[in-house]
Amino acid sequence: MRTPIMAGNWKMNCDNDEAWELAVAIANEKGDVEGCEVVLCPPATALTTVLAAIEDTNISLGAQNIFWEESGAYTGELSGPMLLSCGCQHVIIGHSERRGRFGSADEDFTPELQQVFGDTDASVNRKLQAALSHGLVPIVCVGELLSERQEGQTDEVVSGQVTAALAGVEADDAESIILAYEPVWAIGTGEVCDAEEANRVCGLIRRTLAGCVGEGTAEQIRILYGGSVKSANVVSLMAQPEIDGGLVGGASLQAESFCELIAAAAASK
Ligand code: 13P
Repeated sequence: MRTPIMAGNWKMNCDNDEAWELAVAIANEKGDVEGCEVVLCPPATALTTVLAAIEDTNISLGAQNIFWEESGAYTGELSGPMLLSCGCQHVIIGHSERRGRFGSADEDFTPELQQVFGDTDASVNRKLQAALSHGLVPIVCVGELLSERQEGQTDEVVSGQVTAALAGVEADDAESIILAYEPVWAIGTGEVCDAEEANRVCGLIRRTLAGCVGEGTAEQIRILYGGSVKSANVVSLMAQPEIDGGLVGGASLQAESFCELIAAAAASK
């Protein structure tokens, strides 16, 4: 049995006062949660603030990005040892926003933006290997653009991203990895992917993982769905056999709505 996970990706929201308030409210309500792992991923500036708020609770801390080198002349980047020193146990890798793939309109995915944000299949693989080597749990995001879905390329795009991310990873090291299927067109748009379709793609991800690290390991890996998860759709998403939790943006920024999602995930399996 795979333990469900509800992870909040706060993206570029919350200064330290707001982060403290939100994390304390979630910790007060769900600090003793059982049957569901809860991960809060605030911006890097608020990692230590959130760590203090969730101390002595069952809630864990995650970062939103990692760089593969341990130290050096990489202005603005954060290394695995730095994230560990802030109390992180998890790290999001290859979010579509960091890959420069934005959901509201495909034309947003310009070469200029790709240059600014910069993650590619190759950098995602290096970041994944770096996270594993430091004992951080990677939450690896994959997902297709609206145009790719319309052109019938969803399966090819998603399985290609999974295979590239996992390249060179040994089965023994892969068990802790978490995958997140985030169809880019469903992120921040209010347009949730149909639960059966999300389940189908998560099943495809698991079969792809089996090809990379073997069936036994693939069965243990948690696969989350992300993209406009909210109280109105979380129960049907969590009822799907291949969906082991959620990676949540907007609805993770209010304690009340995020706690509802945690409760639904904990009750689901
Ligand atoms: P929303 O829940 O706001 O659609 O964001 C999803 C997401 O990108 C989580 O990483």
